[in-house]
Amino acid sequence: MSRITLIREAEVVRIHFERKDKSVNVLDLPCFDELEAHLDTLEREPAEVLILESGMVGCFIAGADLDLIHAAANADEAEALAERGQAICRRIEDLEALSIAWVHGSCMGGGLELALACNHIVAVHDGKTRLALPEIKIGIHPGFGGCVRLPKRVGWPQAIKMILSGSSVDAKRAKRIGLASLACHPEQKQRAIEYLRAAKTRTDRTPPLWLRLPPFKGIFFHQVHKKTQARFAHLDLNESYPAIPAVINLLKELTTLDDGLAYAREAESLGKCAITPTCKNLIRVFRLGETLKKQETVKKGKVNINDIDHAAVYGAGVMGSGISWVAAKDCQVDMHEIADTALSRGMKTLSQLARRDKERLRRIRPVVDASGLNKIDVVIEAVVENMDVKHELLRDLEAKTSKETLLLSNTSSLSVTEMQSVLKVPGRMAGMHFFNPAPKMPLVEVIAGKKSTKKTIQSVAALATRWGKFPIIVADVPGFLVNRCLMPYMAAALQLLEQGQKAEHVDGALKVFGMPMGALELADRVGLDICYHVGAQLETAYGDGFSMPIWFNALINDGLLGEKSGRGFFCYEKGKQKKLNEKLADYLPNQQLREIEFDANITDDSREVMPNCEIIDACLLPMLIESLKCLDQKVVEHAEHLDAAMIYGIGFPPFRGGLLHYYASQDRHTLVEKMKDYDLQPPENWESLLYA
Ligand code: NAI
Repeated sequence: MSRITLIREAEVVRIHFERKDKSVNVLDLPCFDELEAHLDTLEREPAEVLILESGMVGCFIAGADLDLIHAAANADEAEALAERGQAICRRIEDLEALSIAWVHGSCMGGGLELALACNHIVAVHDGKTRLALPEIKIGIHPGFGGCVRLPKRVGWPQAIKMILSGSSVDAKRAKRIGLASLACHPEQKQRAIEYLRAAKTRTDRTPPLWLRLPPFKGIFFHQVHKKTQARFAHLDLNESYPAIPAVINLLKELTTLDDGLAYAREAESLGKCAITPTCKNLIRVFRLGETLKKQETVKKGKVNINDIDHAAVYGAGVMGSGISWVAAKDCQVDMHEIADTALSRGMKTLSQLARRDKERLRRIRPVVDASGLNKIDVVIEAVVENMDVKHELLRDLEAKTSKETLLLSNTSSLSVTEMQSVLKVPGRMAGMHFFNPAPKMPLVEVIAGKKSTKKTIQSVAALATRWGKFPIIVADVPGFLVNRCLMPYMAAALQLLEQGQKAEHVDGALKVFGMPMGALELADRVGLDICYHVGAQLETAYGDGFSMPIWFNALINDGLLGEKSGRGFFCYEKGKQKKLNEKLADYLPNQQLREIEFDANITDDSREVMPNCEIIDACLLPMLIESLKCLDQKVVEHAEHLDAAMIYGIGFPPFRGGLLHYYASQDRHTLVEKMKDYDLQPPENWESLLYA
């Protein structure tokens, strides 16, 4: 079966990419073989015009097959792979024919590098047309000549931005920055080819003189490094994302190297990046996301949701407004509220989100009555977390909507089964738990109540995928999965405070590890009152290890609720974290520790500052144990789903590959010792769960 065909029509030859065996065009070794054979033919029998095109809807070429990179056993193998890709690109570049990449659909990584080897890129206007070099997101950098060719096409600052962020551009922007020679509509293909045949040849940009002069070059790349490091604040990039400093250094070198040497350096550097643990872990994480999107439940649910195009969201608060935005991706959304002020606050949030997508905002209708409910396909309630309020709303919704309408709850802690108890047709009800902020956080927990039908669960999972989220099916138990695992982590951070560790140190160590924020800041952001409430609930359900200490309650009683009250562990202004809350010391139980906390003359040694690695274990091991219990109790079916949930739900550092993956790669004996040290009791079969 051929993946790439050569089609000759008079003086125009087309290299047509169309994989019948995959949903997108990816470049693997058989593709390389076929491409090389076609290039042999073209070199023997030259053509006047060569068109690179795809027969797959929505995809030009999605990039190199990740398996190729993941399978590289050593740096030399990965380097050889890059050299092979580079050679193909250079052969395209050297052909006599005028070469044109007709980019209609996603054009990523190796796909864009092939396109860059052509004389011209024509980007076709279509929502699916996106061009990017996203390699940095999997811990490598472009390796088929992209680092050499992109700056020549779009200039250095733009190229550096694209390579370091991995972000994509649409057809219009591709034309504006000079990546594409033309942006046109699908029906203009023939005219575009004729235009480019008549047009002057494209001239490449050379690095400006100042960029080749060592002092200026040094300053410029130092700034690039500094700005990039600022994006990752606490992380040591050499450890966490080594491809970033590597590609900055590489690009710096390339400004003065001739092409031959430049390609060699690119391949060599890629080889080194491809074998780092970060690269292996990021590919793993990418695949975890794919596993969630392609799980059986999603596949089965897709057929049920074809007709869903009208959603209602109840509540325009923090979550309701965010969920409305998510659903408006492809649905008309009625956002219902009882309070005018909350509705206008919700609309304000939406207008901020709409800065880049006004069309989406137009699909959201603010509603304060019960209008429109007869044509709603799915309702998601995000009203206050109170069972009575939710029961009343559900009863009302059942009476006013069709029997087919999905009734979903965004509850973060209430029992879905209990919610179903007031419904006459409870099978169509389930939990659809988004994370805050909903437009940004990729995870959705799909919660099956006792009476939810399989069809309902499948539909919710498929709908979450359609809306760009990763669905994970979890059991209807207190805290579901993510919050249940998160609580022992926060409780452990509080214990460290009690033991005399400074709040900044605890949070700092977790951020250096790669968590997006420390456990104490997280508690502040969630709200200390909510943490207390959830902790108490989970303690009742599961026993010790969940509840917040008594002194924590005193903070709440004094109105120190975290971000929303301006103070918690830290102080906040306009959503930004400022300094430590100095009053915190008054609440800590140990007077002696209290004095230490704020005595600037006492050195770190006298305070017995815990090393970062101990802080990390002290907080993460309780989370690990709870995760293992969840696996054991089948709160979540697969270990991989659990790892994905922690990454996509709470931002566990992706470069570490996942919570279970991180601990599974540690020495087993040492891990047992650590569990003993922290007095943690894993489930009996923990080893088979962790190392499955
Ligand atoms: P919120 O207090 O910001 O918003 C709730 C809104 O619901 C209020 O504006 C209120 O006026 C409105 N409301 C109350 N009864 C209503 C009714 N019958 N019809 C229409 N609107 C009504 O609350 P938030 O934080 O948005 O939480 C909403 C739900 O989402 C809760 O169930 C919560 O547990 C859950 N959740 C919250 C998360 C968070 O981080 N805040 C995260 C995930 C879930």
